[in-house]
Amino acid sequence: MAGAKNMEWKAEYATGIRSIDQQHQIILRYIARFDEAFADQADWAGVYLLTLRARTFMEYHFCAEQTLMHLLDIPNAAVHCARNRIALEQFSTFQRRVHRDSAGDVLLQPMRQLLLDHVLDGNQLFGDNALDDSLA
Ligand SMILES: [Fe+2]
Repeated sequence: MAGAKNMEWKAEYATGIRSIDQQHQIILRYIARFDEAFADQADWAGVYLLTLRARTFMEYHFCAEQTLMHLLDIPNAAVHCARNRIALEQFSTFQRRVHRDSAGDVLLQPMRQLLLDHVLDGNQLFGDNALDDSLA
């Protein structure tokens, strides 16, 4: 399993928008916390609280990101917004499963992958549209 040290920020993750990059760094920290919870075999309460916090942050992040996409008139914004909605639905599914599944492969790893995929898609989304990092 990837450990917390594999979740360090890399230049290739950058979108060119400072606030989004800072938020994506927070997402990487959530991934590291998922990894720690998995390694520590965290109990239901710990895992559930972590998923709640991560979901709340992702809702905030998606709102911020979608507002910027609108302001910058990003061409594929609708596709990315749809992906964000699906991600939140998947989060809800994962959270419901906390009650009946172990907090291992069936919960933490899919959530971790979902967050990582989002960060990795970030620079593709904004790319050349975000050359001015004074935005946001
Ligand atoms: Fe994002």
